[in-house]
Amino acid sequence: MELGTRAPAQAQANPLREGLRLERTPAPCALVIFGASGDLTRRKLVPALYALSVQGLLPAGFTVVGAARSEGTDEGFRASLRQAVERHGRLPVTDLQWASFAEGVRYARVDLDDPEGLAPLRTVLEEVDLERGTAGNRVYYLSIPPSGIANVARRLGEAGMTTPPAQSGFVRLIVEKPFGRDLTTSRALDEDLHRHFDESQIYRIDHYLGKETVQNLHGFRFANGIFEPVWSRQYIDHVQITVAESIGVEGRGGYYEESGALRDIVQNHIMQLVALVGMEAPADFSPETVRDEKVKLLRAIRPIHPDDALDTTVRGQYGAGWIDGEQVPGYREEPGVSDASLRETFVALKLDIDNWRWAGTPFYLRTGKRLPRRATEVAIQFRRVPHSPFGGQLASPAGAPVAGAIDPNLLVVRIQPDEGITLRFNAKVPGQAMRIRTVNMDFLYGSSFLTESPEAYERLLLDCMLGDATLFAREDEVEEAWRLCTAVLDGWRAHPPSVDELPDYEAGTWGPKAAHDLLARDGRSWRRP
Ligand SMILES: NC(=O)c1ccc[n+]([C@@H]2O[C@H](COP(=O)([O-])OP(=O)(O)OC[C@H]3O[C@@H](n4cnc5c(N)ncnc54)[C@H](OP(=O)(O)O)[C@@H]3O)[C@@H](O)[C@H]2O)c1
Repeated sequence: MELGTRAPAQAQANPLREGLRLERTPAPCALVIFGASGDLTRRKLVPALYALSVQGLLPAGFTVVGAARSEGTDEGFRASLRQAVERHGRLPVTDLQWASFAEGVRYARVDLDDPEGLAPLRTVLEEVDLERGTAGNRVYYLSIPPSGIANVARRLGEAGMTTPPAQSGFVRLIVEKPFGRDLTTSRALDEDLHRHFDESQIYRIDHYLGKETVQNLHGFRFANGIFEPVWSRQYIDHVQITVAESIGVEGRGGYYEESGALRDIVQNHIMQLVALVGMEAPADFSPETVRDEKVKLLRAIRPIHPDDALDTTVRGQYGAGWIDGEQVPGYREEPGVSDASLRETFVALKLDIDNWRWAGTPFYLRTGKRLPRRATEVAIQFRRVPHSPFGGQLASPAGAPVAGAIDPNLLVVRIQPDEGITLRFNAKVPGQAMRIRTVNMDFLYGSSFLTESPEAYERLLLDCMLGDATLFAREDEVEEAWRLCTAVLDGWRAHPPSVDELPDYEAGTWGPKAAHDLLARDGRSWRRP
């Protein structure tokens, strides 16, 4: 069964939510987690599954099978998962609810070096099919380092475990980011996966797409008649997308030395946001229609030639500084980081999109660690009014604001924290004179819907079980994002900074001066989130 049945919506106290929530229940299945002892499993996956279970969104007989390389027991695994949910879950753990969830938790030791090494897993899954009615339906979640992905896919293929049980059943594979290190390696990984799985079985997860506020970009753009007509070069001066983190590398220096901000955030999360903000309206909300539109947008981004990478991009690295009154070390002083590291912890770039909607309206993107605050947002800066009848000065459309000027309208979609939308517009200040000031109109998710949003992984795990791939990245989306980022990486590699040029921004500031200059050259400036 590809799409599940719909259960009646629970009664909601908030009229804004009434009639809006369509709960969906997948067909019974087993979710096999490879990397069951890992950080992601503990912090995100199992807490999300428990929350789905408590909300009654999992199918009867749903079972989680931890597949790991070390010896273990069902009981030991259940105990470790309970601890993880108590520590990281958004919902409290009660004995009753835990007992119901834990009934469907099993453990299987696997030996990934041995062609027969998945036999114990297959035995457990056959038992689960008999005891819990999962009917051969499987989701394999590869929560393992990228180096292990192709091997697990191969072992599953060799063991005959990738074929759906019957026409109505399913076997699906969830693959975590990072999906490759560049265009070549991501294509090679696709080839490895496609030897054993059809593209329709592969779910490349980008947890940003599971966030309510990211999905609301679709709702906001395509469920309102008033924004879409002005959503173009004619009315929008430029777009700024910011993913700012105040944390450093948090003990993951080794990983970050290999990755860096471009691979870690821009290639996946930010490029997905660009696609959602820039795409055309899909004819319907089916996975392929939505993803076709996103790919069209990504293909319209003007390629950055490696020789031009230094003109349209900025890379930076944080030095020691202060955040929230606390002194923090520089990147090169973090554990696992070389004291001469050239790895970027900050990226800013300017994208041009060569299509009718966006020609001449740049998208400026930035992300960084140890910035003053954690904030992810999309800011749509509209053009200035063409003429002011109030006698004040007006800056030119692309000009920097001047004293007394009427500020242009700004629409800010806050992805996190303080999830919501703010529209800045101009209003008359009360009094005898005609004085104009900007004011904000605010929509706050929390206070409007009076409910806690589900975690991104809840939505995405459920969608995968339902066979709804809309919020997962398709092969060609990932490829287009890598095409752009690989050219930037090539350009950076050809022109490395000298060891003395870094660090070039202090922790607790908004990045290197070069990022400011990137916009100043166009007569614009970054917004303070
Ligand atoms: N942690 C996060 O917040 C986060 C966020 C986004 C994406 N991700 C991605 O999610 C994946 C898992 O992340 P993680 O932080 O949980 O990683 P992790 O803790 O380093 O490793 C997860 C587990 O993978 C298994 N494993 C290690 N090497 C393996 C190999 N060569 N083949 C098969 N299994 C292997 C180990 O489990 P066993 O010993 O039990 O087999 C290990 O506990 C990675 O791809 C990561 O990039 C993580």
